[in-house]
Amino acid sequence: MKSLNNPFVIYGYKGAEYFCDRVNEVESIINALENERNITLIAPRRIGKTGLIHRVFEEIRSKSTGTECFYLDILSTRNLDQFVELMAQSILGQLGTTSQAAMRKITTLLGSLRPTLTFDQISGKPTLSVDIARGQGEQSLRDIFEYLKQSGKRCYIAIDEFQQITKYPEQQTEALLRSYIQFIPNVYFIFAGSQQHMMTEMFLSAKRPFYLSSQMISLSPIDRDVYRNFANRFFKASGREISASDFDFLYDTVDGQTWYVQAILNRLFQYSTEMIDRELIAKCIEELVQEQSQVFENYYALLTDNQAMLLKSIAQEGRVHSPMARSFAAKHHLPALSSIKMALDHLIDKQLVCRHDDAYVVYDRFFGKWLAGRH
Ligand SMILES: Nc1ncnc2c1ncn2[C@@H]1O[C@H](COP(=O)(O)OP(=O)(O)OP(=O)(O)O)[C@@H](O)[C@H]1O
Ligand SMILES: [Mg+2]
Repeated sequence: MKSLNNPFVIYGYKGAEYFCDRVNEVESIINALENERNITLIAPRRIGKTGLIHRVFEEIRSKSTGTECFYLDILSTRNLDQFVELMAQSILGQLGTTSQAAMRKITTLLGSLRPTLTFDQISGKPTLSVDIARGQGEQSLRDIFEYLKQSGKRCYIAIDEFQQITKYPEQQTEALLRSYIQFIPNVYFIFAGSQQHMMTEMFLSAKRPFYLSSQMISLSPIDRDVYRNFANRFFKASGREISASDFDFLYDTVDGQTWYVQAILNRLFQYSTEMIDRELIAKCIEELVQEQSQVFENYYALLTDNQAMLLKSIAQEGRVHSPMARSFAAKHHLPALSSIKMALDHLIDKQLVCRHDDAYVVYDRFFGKWLAGRH
């Protein structure tokens, strides 16, 4: 594969070479799947869940054991029919379905999905599409699981942004999925999601269908020394290096959150003729923050006065252990405790604030920087 101009990837997954660490996590996930256990992967946004799934699947595919890996991101689906359609499309699209015989089998098994084979007018490449009659999602889901079962192949299916299913109008989606997943012997799942309270509730509440049905894996920030060595591997190739103390500064500024670290490294790499020191790092961070200032301005404008005051106070402190403490309220001229509590709940619910190492922080680390710098 042609190497990238900039090795610090900030969108998507570009291969193991550009992927830092996660060796233990990859091993745990593969071990679980190979031992008939489903996986639930819960972590904050932008820490690397999606990347990790792709890394795991790449590893499994490289072993050529015949195991099929399917990835679906259900964030854009709004109901069960759309979920099933996406699932069918991902699975059928990949299982190599262009032969007449395979097509006949699919048509028989998946009648409810109304599969059609179309040929790209220019390339002549066949593509399979499905069309679910409205309200047929449940029947089609049963058909897909039957199809997977009959395929006889071992299949791993990753469902990313899994918490989305709780927003479908069909209340029983969780129970329905669970009932199929439980009884299919050759298919295992990775459920991934970032809305931590929703995901935890789904998998750890005794009232819910998915209770204790899978092994939980959480993702912490990548170890700082491992990360620095990874970064220096690329910097050294062009005669540069980032010192341990400068890397600590970079890493701590964004609490080691993967996407932010990557974004800063990507920018540092771009300034290829400059020596990497604290000043250059600060310049890169400032640039990244400023580029998003319009977006931050819009977020900020949507907040009530209390929410805005609280968010800004948290940003100024960097991390706040007890936002309900009198000293914190007094220092930042915050309103009554009951109002702070309400504002805090809202900020958490809207994912503007989250907990990190037992303290409250502004979820988007660049937004936090922007707020802290505002007068
Ligand atoms: N281990 C890693 N090494 C290098 N870069 C990584 C790593 N993990 C993630 N990234 C980078 O960070 C970006 C964000 O990661 P990813 O999309 O996997 O996070 P996520 O947890 O799925 O986020 P979201 O919750 O927003 O979907 C990726 O595009 C990738 O460039
Ligand atoms: Mg993701």
